[in-house]
Amino acid sequence: MVRKITDPEEKARIARSVLEALTDWFGVEESREEYIEKSRGWDFFAAMDHEKPVGFLCLKETGRSTAELAVMGVLAEYHRRGIGRELVEEAKKHAAAAGYGFLQVKTVKMGCYEDYDRTNRFYLSMGFQELEVFPELWDEANPCQVYVQSLREDQAFLDLILHRHSYRGRFRPDPVPREDLRRILEAGLAAPSGCNKQTCSLIAVDDPEVLAKLRAVIDPPVGETAPAAVCVLTRRIIAYRDRCFAVQDYSAAIENMLLAANALGYQSCWYEGHVTDLDRIGDRMAKILNVPEGYELVCFLPVGIAEEAMAPPKKKAFEERAWFNEFGREGDPDGTDTVV
Ligand SMILES: Cc1cc2nc3c(=O)[nH]c(=O)nc-3n(C[C@H](O)[C@H](O)[C@H](O)COP(=O)(O)O)c2cc1C
Repeated sequence: MVRKITDPEEKARIARSVLEALTDWFGVEESREEYIEKSRGWDFFAAMDHEKPVGFLCLKETGRSTAELAVMGVLAEYHRRGIGRELVEEAKKHAAAAGYGFLQVKTVKMGCYEDYDRTNRFYLSMGFQELEVFPELWDEANPCQVYVQSLREDQAFLDLILHRHSYRGRFRPDPVPREDLRRILEAGLAAPSGCNKQTCSLIAVDDPEVLAKLRAVIDPPVGETAPAAVCVLTRRIIAYRDRCFAVQDYSAAIENMLLAANALGYQSCWYEGHVTDLDRIGDRMAKILNVPEGYELVCFLPVGIAEEAMAPPKKKAFEERAWFNEFGREGDPDGTDTVV
């Protein structure tokens, strides 16, 4: 349970009890004491295990529109229980209600230290986006990564769509928890479907042995390091007359799953051409997964935490592909020139 603390003495006491136990992150006494002292004046949220504080988070204002997650810590024995996530969600709610538009956080850039890499992955999974790296803000050994996220839910949702791109790099070995895989599958199943025929079915694979068997038939290999994957199946069911919407159905499901995976901090790529080409890799994968007659395996989506940064692809300009009121009509982006 997360509780807002208002008493400065209690804030300092909780901050001290947590930070002094986290020597890997807060081993430098001077800066640790500074955090403890300053926490008295910051918005303070404590995660409680009954009456015992096991983690905390502080928010401070850095500009009229922006709050910063100034410091947070969770006792090591309480890691991987969703406590950090709960603290950040609570802080986000509070900051949004207080009228802030953005939340930022600073940490040591990915790739410097394993402990901080975990911190980076946690922030990415919480919806933060890379804003800028300041190589010398702290010191050369600790380049400062600034993350930011919009607190306007509509903007955050659109940002997720606009920032999704295919990831074809290496994955970290961290397993994808079942609950996350289930949420990704649920997002796929929630997609629209022509005449509601629900022609698309899904198999998530997280068993290393099954993954290894699939990998053995995917040639050339893709997603080899992914700790999990989703295989997309379709049935060519007629919707009406001779119309079959199976392709549209599974395409909608795939996009939903790609977005859901991103929202949970994972990366993926829509591998369809690869498994449905003349060599029919998908058929061999379907056999491994005991897929019955009548279903076709049409797509492979590796799922995992990205190990590398990947540049997004170049997209054509808006004006080349989208218009208002008439094909190819320039200008009038907001309809103002139609006002008489
Ligand atoms: C129907 C379909 C099939 C695809 N098949 C493959 C594939 O076999 N291999 C691959 O690397 N990417 C594949 N992709 C991913 C596209 O290459 C990718 O979406 C495109 O380059 C645009 O990049 P973005 O996803 O980063 O926006 C496929 C995408 C779609 C929609």
